[in-house]
Amino acid sequence: MSAEAPTMPLLTPYKMGIFNLSHRIVLAPLGRLRSYNHFPQPHAILYYSQRTSKGGFMIAEATGVSDTAQGYPNTPGIWTKEHVEAWKPIVDDVHAKGGIFFLQIAHNGRVSNSDFQPNGQAPISSTSNPMRPDAKIFDGANVSFTPPRRLATDEIPLIVNDFRLAARNAIEAGFDGVEIHGAHGYLIDQFLKDGANDRTDKYGGSLENRCRFALEIVEAVAEEIGAERVGIRLSPFTDAEDCGDSDPEALGIYMAKALNKCGIAYCHVVEPRLTLGDSIGNSKSLLPMRKAFNGTFIVAGGYDHEDGNKAIAENRTDLVAYGRLFLANPDLPKRFELNVPLNKYNRKTFYIPDPVIGYTDYPFLETNA
Ligand SMILES: Cc1cc2nc3c(=O)[nH]c(=O)nc-3n(C[C@H](O)[C@H](O)[C@H](O)COP(=O)(O)O)c2cc1C
Repeated sequence: MSAEAPTMPLLTPYKMGIFNLSHRIVLAPLGRLRSYNHFPQPHAILYYSQRTSKGGFMIAEATGVSDTAQGYPNTPGIWTKEHVEAWKPIVDDVHAKGGIFFLQIAHNGRVSNSDFQPNGQAPISSTSNPMRPDAKIFDGANVSFTPPRRLATDEIPLIVNDFRLAARNAIEAGFDGVEIHGAHGYLIDQFLKDGANDRTDKYGGSLENRCRFALEIVEAVAEEIGAERVGIRLSPFTDAEDCGDSDPEALGIYMAKALNKCGIAYCHVVEPRLTLGDSIGNSKSLLPMRKAFNGTFIVAGGYDHEDGNKAIAENRTDLVAYGRLFLANPDLPKRFELNVPLNKYNRKTFYIPDPVIGYTDYPFLETNA
């Protein structure tokens, strides 16, 4: 009798609440800046379809929840019926191929410029402090940042509501759920972290107060579409966009425990070693957060094939999200399965507006020979 090859941990099935995943390789949210005038375009149909596998889980790029949410050119939105219609064919194609598809809903906060704002107004934030000019920034951000306007306490429920409506719209567009973007120094993170949040109301000061905005959004969105269709992304250790915390470990654990009460589908956390792009952060571990959270845990940041298998085998995570490797290898799960070489990503084309180059022209294995 021939011995069967052992199954790779990344290729084992996983039940994420109501979703049956056939493997544990997740497409990380990747903003590609190709949604002209903030509308998802037909070329995104092919891009996401190429990366779909039956039973595979994918998270679509950061998508603005309102007309104050944007901060980069050509990022998509989900706050109007027209946005919903534009997303539908993209989602339909992923579903036709058996994929499970969440939309990342986001607000840039002060990582923006008045040119992206209605009536040229100042971007909104937890603070009126601008980002430091020498802040580490997302490398697609070829823009300058306008000093923000601090949100008044009574305006905050309106922003929570924007997230709620965006989630409703995402479901109407056909998405299976949403991932709330609480990472990378954007609006929610500007509330979470004491490096940015200098408020003295009930949304600032103590850990409990700084986490209030994020948790109100999670609760509102869960109430709107069902907790089983909600995930959140956090990056407590990241200090990009001038948004760092003095005690990231405590912040991560506090959020993990608070999220347990919400019963959401997953918590997705960016590794301390990676901030944005390639920049290496520190050597802290996400293990305490993993242990504090009762639901599905997803990690991202600098994983390769071997590393991902190891993280699952050692029960440090349930799923692994891949960004740059999946960007450059539309058939990443297949390549991992066959253990074959990967295409290299080209950073120069990450954020160009071209509908094909660096977007849908990375070769599949079959055409690679
Ligand atoms: C081109 C590009 C776009 C990105 N866009 C987003 C985004 O929209 N939302 C987000 O949370 N992270 C975004 N990220 C971060 C990735 O999701 C991921 O966490 C990061 O690339 C680290 O994972 P990797 O080492 O597998 O690439 C982006 C990264 C890249 C390279």
